[in-house]
Amino acid sequence: MRLKDKVAIITGGTFGIGESTVRLFAREGAKVVIAARSVDKGTKLANEIKEEGGEALFVRTDVSKEEDVINLVKQTVDTYGKLDIMFANAGIGDMQDLADCTLEEWNRTISVDLTGVFLCNKHAIQEMEKNGGGSIINCASILGHVGQVSVSAYAAAKGGVVNMTRAAAVTYANRGIRVNAVCPGYIDTPILDDTPKEVLDSLVSMVPAKRLGKPEEVANCVLFLASDESSFVTGANLLVDGGYTAQ
Ligand SMILES: NC(=O)c1ccc[n+]([C@@H]2O[C@H](COP(=O)([O-])OP(=O)(O)OC[C@H]3O[C@@H](n4cnc5c(N)ncnc54)[C@H](O)[C@@H]3O)[C@@H](O)[C@H]2O)c1
Repeated sequence: MRLKDKVAIITGGTFGIGESTVRLFAREGAKVVIAARSVDKGTKLANEIKEEGGEALFVRTDVSKEEDVINLVKQTVDTYGKLDIMFANAGIGDMQDLADCTLEEWNRTISVDLTGVFLCNKHAIQEMEKNGGGSIINCASILGHVGQVSVSAYAAAKGGVVNMTRAAAVTYANRGIRVNAVCPGYIDTPILDDTPKEVLDSLVSMVPAKRLGKPEEVANCVLFLASDESSFVTGANLLVDGGYTAQ
């Protein structure tokens, strides 16, 4: 087991990439803390993992609210005694031309996709420092590296996550805390539910692998970055995109 006795928080852990990572981490021996807004789904998933012999806790969390993130880290430490891994995965999409994006919509996307990641990093690092180290994995995107038509706040947030990851990695490298990011390409999860089929088909046609990625394929990369196998990897932005950004 690659995460035996490690304590891991996974935000947005009830759907898509987060849910796949929760299930994988539990199979690899981690005590998983599922942080999400949906109480029904989060409780059900935690119970399922416990029935399968794993350890899981659900903590209702809106990552854009600092009091929720503080409570999340506190409940994790109160229950399991420490925090080893933070996967700051929760995110929301947006799809509109920059000039049509209202300030309210801009703030909504930034508050989850950038501020939420900042808050999860900040409060995880404070706890990890007490414990001698840890591993943080942020969920960025190919859209933190390249542009796409009709994406504005999302691209700004993900670009921010990419470089915040590097800066945090440099700051905490000598304190045993590694900070990396995964940068998924187009992955088959509910976040793409509102993307019109013709848009999706045209995006897939631009991916060298000619298909959408699977959430499990991202979760496997998160596992590598979370585990001690990546002990000398920090500040990396691991592209998981079927070759999209290599073109
Ligand atoms: N699917 C893709 O094509 C793709 C591509 C690049 C990056 N990503 C990123 O991957 C991450 C996971 O997305 P996904 O594809 O699994 O989508 P998803 O919609 O299936 O999952 C997102 C999760 O985040 C949660 N969430 C949203 N706002 C939240 C908040 N304020 N507080 C707590 N939880 C919140 C949702 O409830 C959900 O569980 C996101 O950061 C997303 O931007 C996804």
